[in-house]
Amino acid sequence: MLEREDSPGVRARVLGVLRWQRALDHSLKPFLKQSIARLDPEVRAVLRMGCFEVHHLGVPAPVATDSMIRLTRRLGKSSAAGMVNAVLRRAAAGGAVAATPDLRWSHPEWLWRRWSESFGAAAAEGAMAAAQEPAPPWVWFVHDRSKSDPEASGAIFEPHPWCPDAWTTADGRPELMERVRQGGAVVQDPSSQMVARIAVSVADGRGRAADLCAAPGGKTALMRKLGRWDVLIAGDRSPAKAIRLRRRLGGAAVVAGDAGRPALCPGAWDLVLLDAPCSGTGTFRRHPELKWRLTPEAIAEAAEKQRPLIAAALDLLAPGGAVVYATCSVEPEENEAHFRDRAAGFKRVPLDDHLPTGTPWTETAAGGARILPHEHGDGFTVHALRRRV
Ligand SMILES: C[S@@+](CC[C@H](N)C(=O)[O-])C[C@H]1O[C@@H](n2cnc3c(N)ncnc32)[C@H](O)[C@@H]1O
Repeated sequence: MLEREDSPGVRARVLGVLRWQRALDHSLKPFLKQSIARLDPEVRAVLRMGCFEVHHLGVPAPVATDSMIRLTRRLGKSSAAGMVNAVLRRAAAGGAVAATPDLRWSHPEWLWRRWSESFGAAAAEGAMAAAQEPAPPWVWFVHDRSKSDPEASGAIFEPHPWCPDAWTTADGRPELMERVRQGGAVVQDPSSQMVARIAVSVADGRGRAADLCAAPGGKTALMRKLGRWDVLIAGDRSPAKAIRLRRRLGGAAVVAGDAGRPALCPGAWDLVLLDAPCSGTGTFRRHPELKWRLTPEAIAEAAEKQRPLIAAALDLLAPGGAVVYATCSVEPEENEAHFRDRAAGFKRVPLDDHLPTGTPWTETAAGGARILPHEHGDGFTVHALRRRV
């Protein structure tokens, strides 16, 4: 497991091997006498790491092979050192060719089929390719003027192509992170920032707002900056997360509780953000391990758990109030399937006016917006329903 203090080099290798795992195994396969799944876990990890260093980090094959042989010995697997040497030298010279997009972009085959069916082959392949790129840190500034200070000190900030006021640096990452440590900037993926912005825009930034699945609090924090709320409440089912949320939001109203049975007054809220727990299929750039753990059944289970949360969120709305329902999943079952049947007394909120120009979104079958995993942000889906007055 990665620790906070692990160096950038270690992080890049661990996340890179997880990202490319299936493609690496495919490259190694012709040179192994047994299935890679049957190797000692340590030896398997060493082979994947060596192959990753050569094919993705440009480490010369003899250098990568020698260091992996040393690592094999350090892990107490000296008897496998000869095999590691032979396999890595041959795999470095050229592994098996990846014949299909799922192998080329190292995704599970079932997911590729599912995405091709849902979004078309070209979009599915684009999403898989984007998910293979490490996600750069994007920030928003707590006080807008504060971004000028580091600029003055030489760091060049780059604006996001469509998410307003999201910034990164190509070369000044340490300065950006220093800004974050000092509390002047908040790291948040542009897709997460976009959901907070859409929620604020749908409610015109006013009235009573509740964010029901709020921890760790990124969206609530941005909503607080952007809106002029009479009240803004953040909730989360986990008491431990709720405590951290309260610390982060510095005294904002935080409730610990199940969003399926919220301890809030029904019929009284102008905005309810439901950033629901989900399968996370939009977040493979940052969580590559997820794609190997996920199953089609887990997507169905997530959808099942979301249903009562949506019903409870709708109950909270005052006339004219809106639920903004978002997931970092791009799966139809977890998103538009919940909104295909029009709920009596509610109308869909078209999202065109709430998305900045240039956002690469597509409309879902229930009038929501979806962004597939992209080089400039995670994938996510959002729908909004307003209670009729
Ligand atoms: C996608 S995360 C929310 C991320 C958050 N909105 C942000 O932007 O930082 C989902 C959160 O929902 C919480 N959660 C899961 N089931 C819940 C439930 N039934 N009621 C309330 N919170 C729940 C989880 O603890 C998790 O913190």
